[in-house]
Amino acid sequence: MSSSLPFLNADEAAALIGHDQTIGFSGFTSAGAPKEIPLALARRAQEEHAAGRPFKLGVVTGASTGDSLDGALAQAGAIAWRTPFQSHPVLRDLINAEKVRFFDQHLSTVAQSARYGFMGKFSWAVVEACDLGVDGEIVLTSSVGASPTFLNIAEKVLIELNSYHPPELRGFHDLFEPGDPPLREPLPLRKVSDRIGQTVVRIDPAKIAGVVRSHRPDEVRAFKPVGGVTRRIGQNVADFLAGELRAGRIPRGFLPLQAGVGNISNAVLGALADHPEIPDFEMFTEVVQDSCIPMLESGRMVFASSSSLTLTPPVMEGVYRNLDFFRSRLVLRPQEITNHPELIRRLGVISLNTALEVDIFGNVNSTHVLGQSLVNGIGGSGDFTRNAYLSIFVCPSTAKAGAISAIVPLATHIDHNEHSVQVIVTEHGVADLRNTTPQERARLLVERCAHPDYRPLLLDYFANIHRGHTPQTLSTAFALHAQYLHTRDMRHTSLVDYFR
Ligand code: COA
Repeated sequence: MSSSLPFLNADEAAALIGHDQTIGFSGFTSAGAPKEIPLALARRAQEEHAAGRPFKLGVVTGASTGDSLDGALAQAGAIAWRTPFQSHPVLRDLINAEKVRFFDQHLSTVAQSARYGFMGKFSWAVVEACDLGVDGEIVLTSSVGASPTFLNIAEKVLIELNSYHPPELRGFHDLFEPGDPPLREPLPLRKVSDRIGQTVVRIDPAKIAGVVRSHRPDEVRAFKPVGGVTRRIGQNVADFLAGELRAGRIPRGFLPLQAGVGNISNAVLGALADHPEIPDFEMFTEVVQDSCIPMLESGRMVFASSSSLTLTPPVMEGVYRNLDFFRSRLVLRPQEITNHPELIRRLGVISLNTALEVDIFGNVNSTHVLGQSLVNGIGGSGDFTRNAYLSIFVCPSTAKAGAISAIVPLATHIDHNEHSVQVIVTEHGVADLRNTTPQERARLLVERCAHPDYRPLLLDYFANIHRGHTPQTLSTAFALHAQYLHTRDMRHTSLVDYFR
């Protein structure tokens, strides 16, 4: 590491950043996000606000980040606008209170949107590194996200050199930035484990305005233990995929999997690994979470290509103690590559994502409660669903102790439409929507996936609505949601009142 690097403390680094500037931060989930500099920026914002001066920033990341970045900056009122995916409760509340401008986008498009100038000028890239070389060489940490692009396009760069992440991470990254149209070439990646790029980012060293030392683990939270409902969802997915293999609709050697992050995905992956008919598999995904590590260790998962290692500290430390084992089994890529539509389509990725609600015609809402309040964002679910070999959504059939049905007459917000969604799985069963008409889909979803408490209500709705290719009665379509707003329980809905 060069001794001529401009070492600063975090407050000195934060003092370089001005009001109204846009920052591209590293971080894809809480993995690999800087921590000390955003915390110092939050302190700075509080001081500026106390002195009566404005201090708000445009905040762009790979995906969600943790308490030190999204949490601290949101709490300090330091975020003017934010994109893409976020999941911090404080930031979510500010977005829903219309105090932070948030615009969502598919994760595959973040880097190119930045390069195309769609988000304006990036004054800063603030990026976590585990090692720095001479001549502007940067070794990223536990995620790649959109960091190579932010580092390339930003006017100035601040590095957080985090000694929690070992410099031996060098070599885990495969950094490839496509050219921009009209000169973009086909991506040369042919199989999940191929490497097509560089292991480090190289920038003009003159752009590095400061390097801040830190020693902090990623702020990744542990999953809830697998419960009965999530276990049954996982089992249903595994049985369905085993049936597809038996029927010859999935090649015998299986296909790469993508799985969203979260409690349900965790259970689904566990069930797949335990199923005797599912062959050893690869992942072509955006997030590697805790449950993947024992599968890699046992050989059940042969290889994982991801944009982040979203691991809780004890699991991460286990990986770091055994880096040589994982070196040939893991690769970290930019989200522009992990989520690339053409690669997902060509490699034949089977996608597994979580829905908040699904309507009886197969449209999926992943992002908004009651069509109104943002939960997290679309993340990579659209990139994978639209281009998958087979697109699967999972969810419990109800939320809030049964007061909300996940299967509804019409989704209040649509992230993935009926043309991209192929299979829905709840704890009650599997609705295979391929080759079905909207009316056939409605019956399948109610009979196979809806909670028994809601089946009569949904069948009653379907029996009474205006006919058509996609039957619908607009004045009644949101009756369950309206009832929930009124009594906090969709089960109280009386359709008789609506159809009278
Ligand atoms: N209406 C209202 N609330 C609902 C709901 C519905 N139809 N369905 C679920 N919820 C609530 C749950 O009750 C829970 O809230 P609580 O913790 O206060 O009870 C919350 O939404 C999330 O549910 P949880 O069971 O914790 O699921 P999860 O961790 O698997 O997250 C998503 C589910 C949909 C929020 C999450 O997967 C997501 O953000 N998806 C979009 C991005 C994505 O798919 N990326 C793909 C690759 S990572």
